[in-house]
Amino acid sequence: MKKITIAIDGFSSCGKSTMAKDLAREIGYIYIDSGAMYRAVTLFCIENGLFNGKEVNTERLKEEINHIRVSFLLDPTTGRPRTQLNGKDVEDRIRTMEVSSRVSIIAAIDFVREYLVAQQQEMGRTKGIVMDGRDIGTTVFPDAELKIFVTASAEIRAERRYKELQEKGEKANFDEILANVKERDHIDQTRAVSPLRRAEDALLLDNSQLTIAEQKAWLIEQFRKATEE
Ligand code: DC
Repeated sequence: MKKITIAIDGFSSCGKSTMAKDLAREIGYIYIDSGAMYRAVTLFCIENGLFNGKEVNTERLKEEINHIRVSFLLDPTTGRPRTQLNGKDVEDRIRTMEVSSRVSIIAAIDFVREYLVAQQQEMGRTKGIVMDGRDIGTTVFPDAELKIFVTASAEIRAERRYKELQEKGEKANFDEILANVKERDHIDQTRAVSPLRRAEDALLLDNSQLTIAEQKAWLIEQFRKATEE
């Protein structure tokens, strides 16, 4: 069967990563979480004092960017990739509210996007890849054979993130999370560089009312159609 490129884009916290990860495992493809790459750069900025409140020192970041290496290492017990920043495991640290509340600022910087998009395109050179993010179907892989644009209501997405944080034993406040989800939607959709938008040829998936099993069946069906053509 021919190998294809699968681009999954959509709003934050609508289950894109879980869906993309499961699909990749099922069909034996590589999975890349592009959001984790923006999160890792954000963590780097936090840990190296590049933030002053919500402002980032772009001059220093420009000097440092070529020294920021983001990669993924497969966890042998779970079979899932863990994000590495300059060779150190940062998978848990990039998922905190501290990073979530600043990542949109980093993702709106043009030279950060250029740097990460080039790496993402290199990762997908040999196809057989599922990548999720915001601009995968529009900018990273405009020729992807299968593009999916995922959405769900802001309340449902906030609820999911709330449960996720609670399960990890992190402090979580629903109203704060909902405000963060809405703020990120706004920044993601209105930023000047690569704003979040549905590619014309992307299939729309609103999963507000879908079970994981229903969603999975739908995805496999789209994959089957895309590979038989
Ligand atoms: O999917 P996520 O919540 O982990 O993404 C984190 C942030 O990175 C989010 O604010 C949007 C941004 N992002 C982006 O701009 N482009 C991508 N391809 C992936 C994520």
